[in-house]
Amino acid sequence: MNKQKLGPLNLLAPLLPVLVGTNVGNKPNYITVAFIGWHCFDTISVSVGHRQYSNVGIKENGTFSVNQPSTGMVKKLDYCGLYSGRKVDKSLLFENFYGELQTAPMIKECPVNFECKVIQSFDRPLHTVFIGEVREVYFDTNCLTDGVPDVSKIDPILFSPKLGAKGSTKSFSGSYWRLGEHLAEAWEIGKELKS
Ligand SMILES: Cc1cc2nc3c(=O)[nH]c(=O)nc-3n(C[C@H](O)[C@H](O)[C@H](O)COP(=O)(O)O)c2cc1C
Repeated sequence: MNKQKLGPLNLLAPLLPVLVGTNVGNKPNYITVAFIGWHCFDTISVSVGHRQYSNVGIKENGTFSVNQPSTGMVKKLDYCGLYSGRKVDKSLLFENFYGELQTAPMIKECPVNFECKVIQSFDRPLHTVFIGEVREVYFDTNCLTDGVPDVSKIDPILFSPKLGAKGSTKSFSGSYWRLGEHLAEAWEIGKELKS
C-alpha cells in the first residue's frame, strides 16, 4: 500500500460535532465544537478557542453542557459554528433547560445532553481544553432500546474535516455525514481470529 505524508497534523476523522452550551452574562449561548473527547466514563473534554464567546462563559461559571444533535438539526449546528454569540443572540434558537448545576443550558431538541462541571483546564496555542466531569446525562426515551442508548436512534451528525491548500488550518472546512451500517460486535468479532 502506498503512503503519502501530509505533515504533523491531527486528521483523525470522522469527528462527532456537538453543541456546547454555556451561560454568558446569565444568557444561554451555544457553540459548535468538533474537538471533543473521551478519557474515561465520567469525563468529557472540549477544546474552545481563546477568542470564542463561549470561552468566557465556561470560565465564568466553571460549567458547560454537551448537546448531541441528530441529523435533522444540521442547519442549526452549522449556524452555531458560523456566528458568534458576540454578534448574534443564539439563546432563542432552541428550547433551553437546566439541571442541577443551574448554569449549563441544555437543548431540549437534542436527543442527548450532558451536564458537566469543569474539573481541569489547560491552554494550547489556539484553544483552552476544558475537562468536564459529567454530573448527569439526559437521553430522549425514544433513543433507548431496552433502556440502553441506541446510536441508530440518535442518528448523530458526523464531521469530516478538510484542510486548505498545502495543509493550511486557516481555511479549515469540511462536510457533514450520517452513520452507516452496523459492522460487528465489539469484544466479539476478534475472537474469530483466535485459532
Ligand atoms: C463543524 C464545526 C466545528 C467547529 N469546532 C470547533 C471547536 O472544536 N472549537 C472551537 O473553539 N470552535 C469550533 N468551531 C467554530 C465555532 O463554532 C465558531 O467560531 C462559533 O461561532 C463560536 O461561537 P461563540 O463565539 O458564540 O462561542 C467549529 C465550527 C464548525 C462549523
